[in-house]
Amino acid sequence: MPEPALLTTISGARAYTREVRARGLRVGLVPTMGALHAGHQSLIERAASECDRVAVSVFVNPIQFDSPADLATYPRTLDADTERAAQAGATALFVPSEREMYPDGKPLTLVRVSGLTEVLEGAHRPGHFDGVTTVCAKLFEACEPDRAYFGEKDYQQLRVVSRMAWDLNMAVEIVPCPLIREEDGLALSSRNVRLSDKERRQALSISRGLKAAEAAFQEGERRADALKALAAEPVASAPLAEPDYLELVDAETLETVETAEAPAVLLTAVRMPSARLLDNVILDPTRR
Ligand code: PAJ
Repeated sequence: MPEPALLTTISGARAYTREVRARGLRVGLVPTMGALHAGHQSLIERAASECDRVAVSVFVNPIQFDSPADLATYPRTLDADTERAAQAGATALFVPSEREMYPDGKPLTLVRVSGLTEVLEGAHRPGHFDGVTTVCAKLFEACEPDRAYFGEKDYQQLRVVSRMAWDLNMAVEIVPCPLIREEDGLALSSRNVRLSDKERRQALSISRGLKAAEAAFQEGERRADALKALAAEPVASAPLAEPDYLELVDAETLETVETAEAPAVLLTAVRMPSARLLDNVILDPTRR
């Protein structure tokens, strides 16, 4: 397997992808903050199966963090990331410095998607999505990908980035990819490494609850209250788990719904002592 090209500047990333596209080849981009795991790997593999070249960006984006402690302790594992990305089919790694991305510190221009960003994560993390959409717009400008791959793990982020690309007529197709879990159900996340054994055991209550709600949905339950009660119950009996929110929302608009008749998503964020964890299940009557 050839070593992926290491790109550290915006002009270098642009030159790499322009050269590829000039030859009529398709470029896929997988934006990440590194500490790559099997969830990221699935996005890279999907991109490699659909595109001729795959760039993986690794950039811990300071402007999307609302907690300085979270930013300071965010895991950084570039050597292992390079190896994993290469194995999954990446042909280039774009690893810009903070100075390269934000030469003046915080940029004066922010990309803001309204409507989808005031709820759920947005309500708990002020400014977070402006940071995400701004960095994604910058990464799309730098790499000019034909397609960019995003996980349903961060369901709201996927919707927000898709809406940005649509509103701004961006020439990139946003490709949603399924949420990948550990065998015991825990949704893979770079922040999972911070969990103690005890926290990790109790964190399993999150996926257990969501799975119970999903099973009830498949048996015909459509009422939000009933589905939410099933999802909340295991978390309520995990003393270290503090839910931030648990909502049933329309899969497109992210508006709260009373019944899961159209495609809906049951989304939750739970605070554990060492990490805040996100999880969700998509409840789509047409998707089994
Ligand atoms: P990060 O948390 O590193 O995630 C990068 C991508 O991997 C996102 O699209 C995320 O949804 C996806 N991902 C993470 N865990 C996953 C899992 N268990 N299953 C499937 N996909 C998963 O999300 C970000 O970085 C940043 O906000 C970013 C988009 C890079 C902007 O800075």
